[in-house]
Amino acid sequence: MSMRPTLRAGVIGCGEIGRRGHIPGFQAAGVDVVAVCDTNLERAQSVAKELHVPKAYATYQELLADPAVDVVSVGLPNYLHAPVTIAALGAGKHVLCEKPFATSSEAATQMIETARRCGKTLSVNQHMRFEGTSRAIRDAVTDGRFGSIYLAEVRMIRSAGIPGYGSWFTNKDLAGAGALYDIGVHMLDLAMFLLGFPQVAAVRGHLSRALGEQKIGLGGWGIDRGIAGRYDVDDTAIANIALADGGLVRLIVTWAAFGPGEERVTLFGTHGGADRSPDRYGRETPLRFYQEHKGGIETVIPDLSHYQGGGTSSSIASFIKAIRGEGPLVVKPEEALMTTRILEMIQQSAARGHEIVAA
Ligand SMILES: NC(=O)c1ccc[n+]([C@@H]2O[C@H](COP(=O)([O-])OP(=O)(O)OC[C@H]3O[C@@H](n4cnc5c(N)ncnc54)[C@H](O)[C@@H]3O)[C@@H](O)[C@H]2O)c1
Repeated sequence: MSMRPTLRAGVIGCGEIGRRGHIPGFQAAGVDVVAVCDTNLERAQSVAKELHVPKAYATYQELLADPAVDVVSVGLPNYLHAPVTIAALGAGKHVLCEKPFATSSEAATQMIETARRCGKTLSVNQHMRFEGTSRAIRDAVTDGRFGSIYLAEVRMIRSAGIPGYGSWFTNKDLAGAGALYDIGVHMLDLAMFLLGFPQVAAVRGHLSRALGEQKIGLGGWGIDRGIAGRYDVDDTAIANIALADGGLVRLIVTWAAFGPGEERVTLFGTHGGADRSPDRYGRETPLRFYQEHKGGIETVIPDLSHYQGGGTSSSIASFIKAIRGEGPLVVKPEEALMTTRILEMIQQSAARGHEIVAA
């Protein structure tokens, strides 16, 4: 019997995602978490103690210099994703970066080039792709069940969900954008994944921060916060993404809204459609497929028993398998670059007040 060498991980950032997602995710995937780091050393030490990690560093440079670390996760404020990922790849580590992958397509390109040059695996935690419903829809799209898809509408409406109000999340210099980068990137990545990353022709985006500025709609996520802190990011992002094949992706995300919370993914095709709506159909059977029946439209509740798993733990398990050569890299950095480009076009379009045509 051949013994697989144990992979050893270092977790960079001991905030919410580091503690709740990355450390448990690596441990569940059979990876030894040997070190953590956080500029808040007390936080790093307390998380290390709680989750049985032997070493806690105050800087990522110290963690990257540790030869015992083979793979790292980057769970830091958004502006640090690219520089820390590039440093980690340069130090010979495989990297799972948090979303958003990067705050510019230029930085995303550098991350990809560094990974290639260093021969290391690079991915991003777009865990919504691993949900059973996402995989079931993607399989149906690939099988041609819906025909040609002319509209994909994705929405994540949070009624009161502004995270870490007054923290890095609401500071444009540190976060890059608000709801657009926090939840917009999830829904955009999901739409593009379901459609197979089609080519984009043009983007019209709209951003608003009307509620956040009034301190309306504060949510529970985020450990560092202060009501008096800076708020200069969007709380609402809306975009129409026209595809080169004539299809349209429509994105609506909000951190705060005068309306009901909702998470929904709907595809309309020439021969069928799909609707994932836990709010409408319940968490047990959140998915519906639509198909032709005797000239009418029939609703089907798909069997999801073959589509178990989901969340950051599934995303990390899949990333580790790819490093070990036991499976494909599901979330490719080139796809993250495409998504970064679209997010950039949404921001440009919102700032200029007109559609941006793809270069
Ligand atoms: N994939 C997901 O669903 C998901 C969910 C939550 C957060 N995230 C992403 O994870 C990242 C972190 O989010 P969070 O909610 O954990 O934030 P957080 O504020 O809870 O944690 C960030 C941590 O980084 C530390 N930090 C800041 N600068 C540092 C530096 N230079 N070196 C080391 N540590 C430093 C802070 O002290 C803090 O503990 C964000 O990019 C966010 O978008 C992703």
